[in-house]
Amino acid sequence: MTRWYSERKSEHFYKEAKRDGYRSRSAFKLKQIQKKYRILKKGDIVIDLGAAPGGWSQVAKEIVGDEGVVLGIDLSPIKPIRGVTFLQGDMTKESSLQELIESMEEKKANAVISDMSPNISGNYDVDHARSIYLCEQAFITASTFLKLGGNFLCKVFEGKELPRFLKEVKNSFGLVKKFSPPASRKSSSEIYVIAKSFKKN
Ligand SMILES: C[S@@+](CC[C@H](N)C(=O)[O-])C[C@H]1O[C@@H](n2cnc3c(N)ncnc32)[C@H](O)[C@@H]1O
Repeated sequence: MTRWYSERKSEHFYKEAKRDGYRSRSAFKLKQIQKKYRILKKGDIVIDLGAAPGGWSQVAKEIVGDEGVVLGIDLSPIKPIRGVTFLQGDMTKESSLQELIESMEEKKANAVISDMSPNISGNYDVDHARSIYLCEQAFITASTFLKLGGNFLCKVFEGKELPRFLKEVKNSFGLVKKFSPPASRKSSSEIYVIAKSFKKN
């Protein structure tokens, strides 16, 4: 795909997101992942990491419906969404995991989804390592909260540490796949790790 076409495409998803009332272009990525892998379902309890400005939480809430629960967390504050609880916190800090534990009130989650991205430094190796670090935190969160059979999704920048991370995830889930949704910019190295059927608590 040419750069020009790729930029036009991403602008297209951005405009479509705004028109449909979603707060981010990422909302379409989650919709595309959901269409292919069915990681969320009605009534689910979902933890959304790196949730700002709230696009994934909007999509998750639509899927889980009134009986479901969506709990989002981000470094940045997030404008309220009806039926969604937001916390402000840093998932690399133990205190944020503790806050989530308190908010969950002993409940387990059906899905932990993470779209967390590091600030881009421009040095690819650094950005890749930071992205893997955020995925490790997301994986710890998933291992803490998921019910047996639960699902995990996380964004990662591809690179040399990814096979090690995938191996780690494969030990805990029945099915693990990499997926690049059409709404991701073709120029970007981001992919999504989809892990279904949590096996270990
Ligand atoms: C691509 S945006 C998420 C977009 C979101 N999924 C949506 O649809 O609106 C990535 C987010 O990750 C958050 N983030 C990065 N590092 C984080 C951390 N350590 N703890 C919590 N959130 C983090 C950033 O603040 C940013 O809002």
